[in-house]
Amino acid sequence: MSETLERWSSRRAFILAVTGAAVGLGNIWRFPYMTGENGGAAFLLLYIAFVLLLGLPVMMAEIMIGRAGRRSPMHSLAYLAQQAKATTHWRWLGAFGAMTVFFILSFYSVVSGWSIEFLIESINGDFEGLSPDEIGANFEGFLADPLRMTFNHSLFLLLTMTVVAAGISNGLEKLNNLLMPLLYLLLIALVVYAAFHDGFVPALRWLFSPDFDAVTPGVVLNALGHAFFTLAVGACALMAYGAYMPDHQSLPKAALAVAVLDVLVALLAGIAIFSAVFAQGMDPAEGPGLMFVTLPIAFANLPWGMLWLSIFFLLLLLATWTSSINLAEPMVATLQGIGLRRGRATAIVAVGVWLAGMLSVLSFSTMADVHWLGEMNFFDLVTTIPTDIFLPLGGLLIAIFAAWVLPREIALRALDAGPNGFRAWRAMVRYVSIPLTLLVLLSGLL
Ligand code: PHE
Repeated sequence: MSETLERWSSRRAFILAVTGAAVGLGNIWRFPYMTGENGGAAFLLLYIAFVLLLGLPVMMAEIMIGRAGRRSPMHSLAYLAQQAKATTHWRWLGAFGAMTVFFILSFYSVVSGWSIEFLIESINGDFEGLSPDEIGANFEGFLADPLRMTFNHSLFLLLTMTVVAAGISNGLEKLNNLLMPLLYLLLIALVVYAAFHDGFVPALRWLFSPDFDAVTPGVVLNALGHAFFTLAVGACALMAYGAYMPDHQSLPKAALAVAVLDVLVALLAGIAIFSAVFAQGMDPAEGPGLMFVTLPIAFANLPWGMLWLSIFFLLLLLATWTSSINLAEPMVATLQGIGLRRGRATAIVAVGVWLAGMLSVLSFSTMADVHWLGEMNFFDLVTTIPTDIFLPLGGLLIAIFAAWVLPREIALRALDAGPNGFRAWRAMVRYVSIPLTLLVLLSGLL
């Protein structure tokens, strides 16, 4: 496969695209419920430490490979391995990434479908005046209804794939330029709103005063997986975006901007959600249903509540849309790399992901009693293993390739941060990120 000539039209467009990929369910849905389940502030601290020590340097490694290869992830890895006179088996890392994004996108589309359902219910004012029990029952009822779940999953996937099929400058870039600034405005409005309500101070206290007794190896592994997930690192998805990165742009600066924005969104969303949780005296450890139950309850009896709730679900939908197109891109780019047209490649990916997503849809009804690896239903399985194990493992291999295999001149040019910046990055990846990821991964698994 020859080099791609597609480029993001500006440095800003590249940063927006990567931020769009990073900010998504990870920040708004997963971060609050994981923090809730893993004891609050200690989890938050671990996650931020992992973002800085691992996520950020590995993100640079991943984008660097894409930028140096200028091909689909699989083809970039094969091409660069050849340049380095290393084995071209490295390309299987690209295939592993494609498998990871395949599973992630399959549940991502289902959960994003929930936000479509809840957006419509909020606009209709369906939650107005309902009791907490009725709102809980509404969510349960929705989960148990495979038809409605299927409809929303299909609709979301259609939205995603339409943009992906339109290509880089027509589809992905236009959508990101429009949605990302809107998202920040909405989020800030929500936090200002939360600041005027009862739960605000308890939420801050809970989010920012750590209890280190709550930290187990499992919690550490969860925080590691989450740091990779939220930054969109470890699945070769950012590698696919790196292939279109403009020629003159410092990679560390761009990556740092993305990481800061990403953590900020998680914190803001966390404050908004936990303010609602504490104002109602609810349990932060509710699990994946956290925001779909607590938020409607919190807003059901407030003036303008349905308006704020609609804003929130709109926000979630916008954020997930820009992430899901990133999840689809490496698969589509790989199929394009073996000669398929973009439209056909997109259609094939869509059908595959739709089918796998149906297993998640049915996990809440028909297949609720089908268990995998012990107690997990398919949805539990697909929301944990790919995130907590495949992403760190993929990230580890990406880091090894970039910091140990890739020839120095190629890496130096792709990082675009001068010789000193390069040396600092490489030392960090070699001696901090790689050993630490390995350590957490192994201790979490054992
Ligand atoms: N970062 C995205 C989120 O937080 C999810 C994602 C993971 C996207 C891996 C791409 C690759 O929702």
